[in-house]
Amino acid sequence: MSDPLRLGIAGLGTVGAGVVKIVRQKSVLLEARTGRGIAISAVSARNREKDRGVPLTDYGWEDDPVTLATRDDVDVFVELVGGSDGPAKAAVEAALKAGKDVVTANKALLAHHGQALAQLAEDNGCVLRFEAAVAGGIPVIKALTEGLAANDITRVMGVMNGTCNYILTRMESGGLSYAEAFAEADGLGFLEADPELDVGGIDAAHKLSLLSAIAYGTQVAFDAVELEGIGRVSIDDIRQASDMGYKIKLLGVCRMTGRGLEQSMSPCLVPASSPLGQLEGGTNMVVIEGDQVGQIVMRGAGAGEGPTASAVMGDVVDIARGTRVTTFGAPASRLVQATPAKAATPAPYYLRMSLADKPGALAKVASALGEAGVSIHRMRQYDHVDNAAPVLIVTHKTTRAALDAALDAIPATGVVQGDPVALRIEQV
Ligand code: HSE
Repeated sequence: MSDPLRLGIAGLGTVGAGVVKIVRQKSVLLEARTGRGIAISAVSARNREKDRGVPLTDYGWEDDPVTLATRDDVDVFVELVGGSDGPAKAAVEAALKAGKDVVTANKALLAHHGQALAQLAEDNGCVLRFEAAVAGGIPVIKALTEGLAANDITRVMGVMNGTCNYILTRMESGGLSYAEAFAEADGLGFLEADPELDVGGIDAAHKLSLLSAIAYGTQVAFDAVELEGIGRVSIDDIRQASDMGYKIKLLGVCRMTGRGLEQSMSPCLVPASSPLGQLEGGTNMVVIEGDQVGQIVMRGAGAGEGPTASAVMGDVVDIARGTRVTTFGAPASRLVQATPAKAATPAPYYLRMSLADKPGALAKVASALGEAGVSIHRMRQYDHVDNAAPVLIVTHKTTRAALDAALDAIPATGVVQGDPVALRIEQV
């Protein structure tokens, strides 16, 4: 019988408490599946007195996660503290330098320091796993790193922030403004302490940058993600996109193009009938396309105690079984620095503008688009409101550069009130 695998768990919030519960409640199952026991040696958190709904007296306690990370009776350091720097980074580095394997749910840490930490792990003969960092309970890291390892990955797409998807869904289903849906999500406790992490798209972009690194063998390039949050999505766009057969999602997309690695996290239109279009509420979805496998769709809970603790324990179980995979699916020294490509792939766009009610107005807009090389695929004009007509245009595939040239020319037509809205349509 092998010795038990001994964990040190730093961070006893929702996920940490969930991990402790699984270790306590599923010891027989875990031992049956791994061939060895999984035990907790010690834990660490900011407040020792807080009731976390799970007994902690059986375990050692450390106030400092760095001390926990280097204890002799810890084989695997489980980092659930969060934050890209500070104690989480210090403790993960200390653990790896001390030869401990690390399991983390910390997307911000890896998005900012993934390359250095992957290298540190390898230099010390350790594994650094992070299934829980991306899309909560969906085992997407494992799928991409292991199950799909023989594929050239042609595209990865994902709705990976449940809070944003909840807000967008409620705007549509409840006819709520962005501010009302945001307030509702806040009341339900969905928002991060810094809401901008959610609605600014940062949390989802952290996740996308990690998937890109695995998919394309590149060093994590979070700063190269083209990022736009959902704060400017209006109920008008949600309604009118729906009228044209689309849903608006905060969609992450990465793909390797002839001009470099394209990574974007922005509000996009997707066909309402597609799996992404049908994704409601706080759920996540990741779509992976590979040259051999075709398209894979994974849907599930992106946050919460059970799903996220499930992902953490999946990594722990791998380590207990002796499965040792490189952090990003390739030796850290072989991960190449990606050339960032901004919106390199032509796409159709949705445009909404308010057109003055006078003869020739539409012709002027059509001409501005035409002169920039942007072709109209579909168009719809609605009833006039205050002497202006809302007009929706779906373009044929075009480059963002051509579209921007058209948008730059439109004010000079003198027939469009306010700024047109332009959103990419992702064909899925
Ligand atoms: N705040 C995230 C979400 C979960 O709403 O999906 C943690 O990444």
